[in-house]
Amino acid sequence: MSYQKSSLLRFFPDGIIKQAAERFGTPLFLYSRELLEKQADSYIKAFAGTDTLFCYAMKANSTRGLCAVIAAKGFGADVVSGGELFRALRAGFPAEKIIFSGVGKTEDEIRYALRENILFINAESFEELRLIENVARSMGKKVRFSIRLNPDVDPHTHAYISTGKSGSKFGVSFDEAFEMYRYAAASGNFVPAGVHSHIGSQISSGGPYKTAEIRVAEFIDRLSSLGINPEYTDMGGGWGAAEGFEMKSPSELREAAEPFLRRGKKLILEPGRSIAAPCGILISRVLYRKRSGSRNYIITDGGMNDFLRPSLYGAEHPVYIPGKATGENYVGKTENMLCDIAGPVCESADFLARNVMLPPVEQGELAVLLSAGAYGISMSSNYNSRPRAAEVMIENGELKLLRRRETVQDIISAEVC
Ligand code: LLP
Repeated sequence: MSYQKSSLLRFFPDGIIKQAAERFGTPLFLYSRELLEKQADSYIKAFAGTDTLFCYAMKANSTRGLCAVIAAKGFGADVVSGGELFRALRAGFPAEKIIFSGVGKTEDEIRYALRENILFINAESFEELRLIENVARSMGKKVRFSIRLNPDVDPHTHAYISTGKSGSKFGVSFDEAFEMYRYAAASGNFVPAGVHSHIGSQISSGGPYKTAEIRVAEFIDRLSSLGINPEYTDMGGGWGAAEGFEMKSPSELREAAEPFLRRGKKLILEPGRSIAAPCGILISRVLYRKRSGSRNYIITDGGMNDFLRPSLYGAEHPVYIPGKATGENYVGKTENMLCDIAGPVCESADFLARNVMLPPVEQGELAVLLSAGAYGISMSSNYNSRPRAAEVMIENGELKLLRRRETVQDIISAEVC
């Protein structure tokens, strides 16, 4: 995608970007608290008048300073590992607002969740349900649970982040779920707290949700005929935020929830990306420029270990050069160059952007990738022994360090010999 006048940029003034890069170094994740709160408020507004619990999907960005802002909005958390559960509690999400999903929970993780008395555990297979039962029994507890349904709906998104089609590893079919609820009812160790589905991520219209929710509502009626009436219907997350933009109001999700609201259900939503992505940018510094064949490369100090989405999904995040890229002013100018922005990692897949039209960029200038607040730092790695980037938040015009830059010492700290 060529760079453009993004609605996000007014939250990241050039002066602040430059100041943050000077003070904390690059590559650097910079977040806007104002924008983060705005995205959270957009959910609260769209679901006003309903009994809805928003469980922020920790996987999008698990950094405490950012999560604490979301927790302060009254959100709960959706976690998928013991580590995320620990970080959710530490960030201030109350246990009674935390749900635990994921296809591969270990016995220790299940025990931890039960000890912490979270809202419910979301089972994704019959075998998992039996393990949950055994753990609960050994602890002398009843466990609140839900089952993740696979509604067999195509969310029309990237294959890697599409989960609601039959054949995916996520969830179980309606028939299997029915048997699982029946088994749980007979066991005496379970309280049926919810019915869950999550069809995918970066979904841009309410259509797939509507299709899924009609099917889930029919399933709820089937359960009801057995006398099983879970309190919550969890619609999962997945609402998109197009790269370079704030999220669209999730009012279409509110419409898709109608079948549940009509049945008097409490709702749960698990938004991740739509809350966190727009509010963050990745700031890198231009190290070198070079030409290879017909391609112009800009080599930056940020790479795929810092931000994997372009390499893994072919995601196109708009690029902004502070002080230069003011959108359409530059498009079509003769001095523009078609460039690839590549990082220092030793992989040909290491790029932050490809085929972007940029004005002449000098060594030492900053290159900013927009919509990097979600699945950025949380998917980053130490590949090539590169310390992870620092994270900073803009709060009332001031810069607040949320997480310091890692050092090589951090990287080796778990090596025991
Ligand atoms: N709930 C469940 C059960 C999930 O599996 C996910 C995401 C979410 C909620 C949050 O979805 P969101 O609102 O963020 O779309 N790394 C990929 C996205 C993976 C999403 C995995 N599951 C990316 O960078 O696009």
